[in-house]
Amino acid sequence: MTDAAPRAREVVVLADPGALSRAAAERVARDADDAIRRSGRFTIALAGGTTPRALYELLAGEYRPLVDWTHTEVFFGDERGVPPDDAASNYAMARDALLARVPVGRVHRIAGERPPADAARAYDAELRAAFPDDGAPTFDVALLGLGADGHTASLFPGGAALDERTAWAVAVPPPESAAPHVERVSLTLPALNRARAVYLLASGAEKRPVVRRVLAGAAPDLPAARVRGVERTVWLLDRDAAG
Ligand code: 6PG
Repeated sequence: MTDAAPRAREVVVLADPGALSRAAAERVARDADDAIRRSGRFTIALAGGTTPRALYELLAGEYRPLVDWTHTEVFFGDERGVPPDDAASNYAMARDALLARVPVGRVHRIAGERPPADAARAYDAELRAAFPDDGAPTFDVALLGLGADGHTASLFPGGAALDERTAWAVAVPPPESAAPHVERVSLTLPALNRARAVYLLASGAEKRPVVRRVLAGAAPDLPAARVRGVERTVWLLDRDAAG
């Protein structure tokens, strides 16, 4: 079967990082309301790195009342192979900016403290159990960041993880092109591409070259170019990243 043409990607350019975070928070709050009305719960996979911190702080602050947190389940797009109290932990960043400040119904943490292959297997099993209808994750929202090399989550250019078709989460060797250079666990493309909505956030001039290459269709093999939500894929950029 030929690959269907990739679903259209929407690009929204915001004036600055603050406006970018606000635009993302608006979409998360709206999608949470829709999901809970539709299914009784809202499932979201959080991005790591530094860009989404301000979004998480907005969600814990001004937007806190707009999300029914007790009916929200939080997952992670990836995790570094470090303990949950390590400064490099994506869980630690999300906990401090958001999870410790709102009454989330359930948090599905990737066990960064365990050997990544074991942590990936455990997370894969947890994803299958969390979506019992068909044992496959269908996040209402997947938040993603963008590396200057075109990686997203912990899917790196040319990495074997990009070819994974059956596991929802895999272990990833330490990347050459991104810090920290530690092993990681990442959701796979099949898991990300089952999300209803994918919001990719990119901020700063250092992301401009890769943003331009991907949006011009010049880098279809880059991981960030291969992520598509079922219902929508929105790249939320600030002016510096959009150029
Ligand atoms: C991670 C993220 C990674 C991140 C990009 C962008 O674990 O680091 O999953 O994909 O989103 O590297 O990172 P910044 O937001 O810090 O630029």
